[in-house]
Amino acid sequence: MDPLTLRTSRLLLRDWRDEDLAPFAALNADPQVMEYFPRPLERTESDALATRIRSQFAQSGFGLWAVEVCGVAPFIGFVGLSVPSFEAHFTPCVEIGWRLAGEFWGHGFATEAARAALDFGFDRLGLVEIVSFTVPANRRSRTVMERIGMTHSPDDDF
Ligand SMILES: CC(C)(COP(=O)(O)OP(=O)(O)OC[C@H]1O[C@@H](n2cnc3c(N)ncnc32)[C@H](O)[C@@H]1OP(=O)(O)O)[C@@H](O)C(=O)NCCC(=O)NCCS
Repeated sequence: MDPLTLRTSRLLLRDWRDEDLAPFAALNADPQVMEYFPRPLERTESDALATRIRSQFAQSGFGLWAVEVCGVAPFIGFVGLSVPSFEAHFTPCVEIGWRLAGEFWGHGFATEAARAALDFGFDRLGLVEIVSFTVPANRRSRTVMERIGMTHSPDDDF
């Protein structure tokens, strides 16, 4: 299936390219970006993650889009939709997620991209629900969720 490209006023949400692997590895190696994950990723782990993301794109035509800031930066990270592989009482489900290089935080790019991904999920895929989760301490990620209008469901805390 041809990967879908989404455009916003400042961003392109696009399929991945080989040139994205180096900047993706750099952000995955950054302890600040990976603060709420078990640890930063080695290059091989980052490349393997990109391969999984790309194969999901190849299967379904959407997923965790590579995010480009038009005319500014060809790759700043990913924002998009995925199907969690773990089991919880709210799975199976579609999750929205984001991970941007630290130098591109504080510009509203995650929120802008997430709105486009949500619209795509609801309008084009016809989803009735999209979830997101993070550790409580990840204030920046929680704030993106709030900005795009998500509500916290305490019954689903895990
Ligand atoms: C989560 C993450 C994507 C959020 O990034 P972010 O930059 O805080 O979020 P946004 O891109 O929406 O930017 C919002 C900020 O840009 C500011 N901003 C500046 N210009 C803006 C504009 N034109 N429009 C909107 N906001 C703008 C906002 O005021 C806000 O600033 P604040 O941080 O001082 O409140 C980022 O911290 C990240 O990649 N973290 C590591 C990965 C991670 O933890 N992912 C989640 C795992 S569950």
